[in-house]
Amino acid sequence: MSQEKLSISTRIPLSSGNSIPQFGFGVWQLGSGEEAKRAILWALEAGYRHFDTAAAYQNEGVVGEAIRESGVPREEIFITTKLANIHQRDGRQRHGFEKSLENLGLDYIDLYIQHWPVPGRYKESWAIMEDYYKQGLTKAIGLSNFRVSHLKEIMADATVMPAVDQIEFNPGIQDYETINFCKEHNIAVEAWSPLGGGMAASDPTIAAIAQKYGKSGPQVVLRWILQKGIIVFPRSSKQERIVQNADVFDFELAAEDCAKIDALNAWKRTGRDPDHPEGFIYRVLD
Ligand SMILES: NC(=O)c1ccc[n+]([C@@H]2O[C@H](COP(=O)([O-])OP(=O)(O)OC[C@H]3O[C@@H](n4cnc5c(N)ncnc54)[C@H](OP(=O)(O)O)[C@@H]3O)[C@@H](O)[C@H]2O)c1
Repeated sequence: MSQEKLSISTRIPLSSGNSIPQFGFGVWQLGSGEEAKRAILWALEAGYRHFDTAAAYQNEGVVGEAIRESGVPREEIFITTKLANIHQRDGRQRHGFEKSLENLGLDYIDLYIQHWPVPGRYKESWAIMEDYYKQGLTKAIGLSNFRVSHLKEIMADATVMPAVDQIEFNPGIQDYETINFCKEHNIAVEAWSPLGGGMAASDPTIAAIAQKYGKSGPQVVLRWILQKGIIVFPRSSKQERIVQNADVFDFELAAEDCAKIDALNAWKRTGRDPDHPEGFIYRVLD
């Protein structure tokens, strides 16, 4: 990807026919009240137009509210939400989807994804999601935390191919087996927890690169992810950091510096391992 072209407005085409802003804002752990609303409004003010939420985050309502309050036209904003594990496990996928639309106060979702590959359920869930996609109620459908074996199972019977796979990706965990499979099959990759649970701000290798470019560690890591053509949506509750994280379009990392960050891969997840479903969280939801 040509770096000159990267901007906060850069979009990645999806196999579903729409396109997604490569840079966005994640709202996990921001709560469902004023803190989340303020953060989303600051993000909109700073130019973010892509928001990543989930039924399990229990803040779809405030995402919808903040967007309406901002006055930014709906069609300029890209919203992702996710099918909760518990709705999959209990066979209540349709209820989960309809509840998300209602909570967001929207008549369509831009991207609807399965949060985790819930064993014994994800193929059935995919067929239901295909149905919503065909009805136009979601403009794209995708997956999250799917590794190659899970993706192959979905793709074996799919009538709509997954548009994205959202995986944990940061300097400490770089799963190129999944990423390369996605590239080969036209599945866009999204990076969750891009700042690696504090690693971006504290690792000495990243700090040295940051100093060279006059940027912060988190800015360097976000730029490294963007230069790989991966979609990213950092989260912060603080206005200064929301602005700082979006200020990553005026510099370009040299290949040698990207290679130094690549070398930090330690297969160290901050989150759960998709190959160990016993660790999945089944948050109780209506
Ligand atoms: N699909 C999945 O299973 C899954 C799992 C996890 C996350 N996600 C998605 O990915 C999004 C991003 O991941 P994340 O929320 O885990 O974490 P993240 O964006 O990697 O990091 C957020 C943390 O970094 C801090 N931070 C943000 N900007 C900073 C900066 N410039 N300098 C120093 N610290 C900074 C934030 O603290 P302050 O708030 O204090 O700034 C917060 O503690 C989520 O919000 C969610 O949408 C998806």
